[in-house]
Amino acid sequence: MKILVTGGLGFIGSHTVVELQEQGFEVIIVDNLSNSSMDVLEGIIKITNKKPIFEQLDIRHKQSVEKLFHDYSDIKGVIHFSASKAVGESVENPLLYYENNINSLVYLLQQMQKKEDSFFIFSSSCTVYGQAEKMPITEDFPIQTAMSPYGNTKQIGEEIITDVAKVSSINAILLRYFNPIGAHKSIEIGELPLGVPQNLVPFITQTAFGIRKELSVFGNDYPTSDGTCIRDYIHVVDLAKAHVKALRRLIKKENSEKVEIFNLGTGKGSSVLEVIKAFEKVSQQKLPFKIVGRREGDITEAYADTIKANQVLGWKAELSLEEALLSAWKWEQKIRK
Ligand code: NAD
Ligand code: WQD
Repeated sequence: MKILVTGGLGFIGSHTVVELQEQGFEVIIVDNLSNSSMDVLEGIIKITNKKPIFEQLDIRHKQSVEKLFHDYSDIKGVIHFSASKAVGESVENPLLYYENNINSLVYLLQQMQKKEDSFFIFSSSCTVYGQAEKMPITEDFPIQTAMSPYGNTKQIGEEIITDVAKVSSINAILLRYFNPIGAHKSIEIGELPLGVPQNLVPFITQTAFGIRKELSVFGNDYPTSDGTCIRDYIHVVDLAKAHVKALRRLIKKENSEKVEIFNLGTGKGSSVLEVIKAFEKVSQQKLPFKIVGRREGDITEAYADTIKANQVLGWKAELSLEEALLSAWKWEQKIRK
């Protein structure tokens, strides 16, 4: 059974391809390398010793998507990772985000809806909840008005899939990721540092390596225990394993609805200062940082209620914050050597 993985050379996609291959699935990766490189394909092969089919193409091009599905007529399922994902960039360049994150999705669904019993797994984000009223966050919490065009593309994406599933044979699972971090234990793949990191953990590891002078902590006047924001940091390998669980659920037709939603987090919130402390512990070095003003658009707190993923999907995050941070640190050191 061939599984199409769009954005399969990306951070989460590459880790998911490894888990899929190790579980015996045949994978077709499509990626335009806009935020990745062929080294990632090498890394995947080094880990699994299996060469996935790779097609370098841009799924914003409708004809390319049509040709792909013509050439691989036996694609049964899609795991759709590819997107642009930088919140700040989406504010500056909304049309890039609406074109890349919405048009591509439409072209994929147009092909998938022609098939009998096809399935679709979508990379969504806890960003759809905005600042939730209380913690932990369950899947039935209200969707809040998006704080950025990026977040809006995730909300719109969920709605498009839901509407299409109603009138087609597509069965879908929407996975709302919290904050993925870390790298595969082999350190053959990890998060590629392209440009100045927007996210906390790559900025921490680059600071620790000396590439950045110091980490700026965006605000310590939030209503939390230590004044810094709280997030649910999940090891990317745990996240990848959840995708295999979701795929098997759809293959075995165990889904109870045409579209199911799962939060993917650890269920534990960590503040920025707690992450720094944990990183200093695993790296055994002090991390230079300073407290600065709040970052526009940041929410105070978000961490997942994982009961549905645990009990229905049969998945639970197993790796700790420290293990994730150590893997991120080892990856940083490796790519800099
Ligand atoms: P990533 O940028 O590492 O991976 C995305 C991949 O898609 C890249 O390899 C890129 O080259 C490819 N791509 C982008 N546009 C393409 C196009 N038009 N055609 C073909 N390939 C294209 O991002 P990631 O962190 O792995 O995220 C994967 C998905 O998960 C995204 O949809 C993202 O919005 C979502 N997500 C990520 C996070 C996070 O913190 N990383 C959190 C929640 C949701
Ligand atoms: C985490 C915490 C920052 C950097 C973003 C997107 C979200 C998803 C995941 C795609 C926050 C603080 C950060 C720094 C800091 N991406 N921070 N100094 O903002 O929770 O989520 O990435 O779907 O959509 O919004 O993650 O890693 O950027 O920030 O103090 O240099 O670290 O204020 O509290 P975030 P993040």
